[in-house]
Amino acid sequence: MALRKDYPWLTPAAPAVISSPMMKICMSKLTVETTLAGGLAFLAAGFDVSNLAKDLAECAELFQKASFTLSDNNSLPIGVGFQNWGADLQVTLKALQQHPVAAVWFFGPKKLKDYAKWTESIREISNNKTKIWIQVGTVAEALEVVRLCRPDVLVVQGADSGGHGLRQRAGIITLLPEIADALRRKGIHIPLVAAGGIIDGRYRDEILRVVDGGVATAPSTIYDKARGITGWPETYVGRGVTNKTYHDAARGRNENVIKALHDEALEKSGGTKGWGPRGRLTTYAGTGVGLVREVKSAREIVQEIQRDASYILGRRAADYDATRGRPSGDGLRSKL
Ligand SMILES: Cc1cc2nc3c(=O)[nH]c(=O)nc-3n(C[C@H](O)[C@H](O)[C@H](O)COP(=O)(O)O)c2cc1C
Repeated sequence: MALRKDYPWLTPAAPAVISSPMMKICMSKLTVETTLAGGLAFLAAGFDVSNLAKDLAECAELFQKASFTLSDNNSLPIGVGFQNWGADLQVTLKALQQHPVAAVWFFGPKKLKDYAKWTESIREISNNKTKIWIQVGTVAEALEVVRLCRPDVLVVQGADSGGHGLRQRAGIITLLPEIADALRRKGIHIPLVAAGGIIDGRYRDEILRVVDGGVATAPSTIYDKARGITGWPETYVGRGVTNKTYHDAARGRNENVIKALHDEALEKSGGTKGWGPRGRLTTYAGTGVGLVREVKSAREIVQEIQRDASYILGRRAADYDATRGRPSGDGLRSKL
């Protein structure tokens, strides 16, 4: 499908593996490693893009070190993800002119219509070479984003996702097909990507310890308040590991006291301890956290997902063909 044409380094004949732009986690090293392993990762630019040019220069250096040849227009074989509510478009455009990239990923705007200007400007400076990905959480949002921007890819983010997402949305099992049907009814064909996967990070030991993600994680605004982040639009909330900060807020403890305790914990440990259920520091993660049992390299994760997805899709294609008495083809597999 289109993904392989636009991102030719993706492993051929395997499902496309994509890492979302996880703030403070999917930075230059993980982004470049994912491409080198045959996947596509989005460097997390977040809401403060003042370091974007430097981070992109670091990616370029890592590709050079790995002797990875860039395309003719020197475009980096990576994406960049923004939290649009705080990101400065002009600073972004300057950085992307210096270091063009294959794709950008938008999320969390103040108003959906802000995406139109971002889409138009990035398409203009890149001569349409930088593809536009937009993460959405409801059917209405998907239809409006398509009307405003006609993105190249829609990322569908279900309610179990880690980090921030719309307060009100369905789980991925129903959300993905409902958005697919709504677009199909309007004759719109845009690749859909389901958001998922949590990997790596300073708090990875805590992620390994946590089980039963529907209970061990919860959406709450206190995680941001404790960190002093106040800019997220009202319609968003962040899902993280339930910890002392979360339980204090649930009991109605004063939020200034909660923040002071959070800051004290951060200062005491220098950020090396205090994550996880018994700590106070924010550990963003989705309900899939219970499935993460081992620390693995980006390469191992990309290859494992490719293998498992190929197997499952291959088996389902064979079952489907068998029920209709047709010879087994690669129908489902080729849709990836
Ligand atoms: C630690 C963390 C940081 C994240 N940061 C961002 C971000 O900067 N921009 C963004 O669009 N999404 C961000 N997300 C959300 C992801 O795009 C995606 O929706 C989520 O990882 C999918 O959920 P899952 O990994 O729990 O299955 C973040 C998620 C996590 C867990």
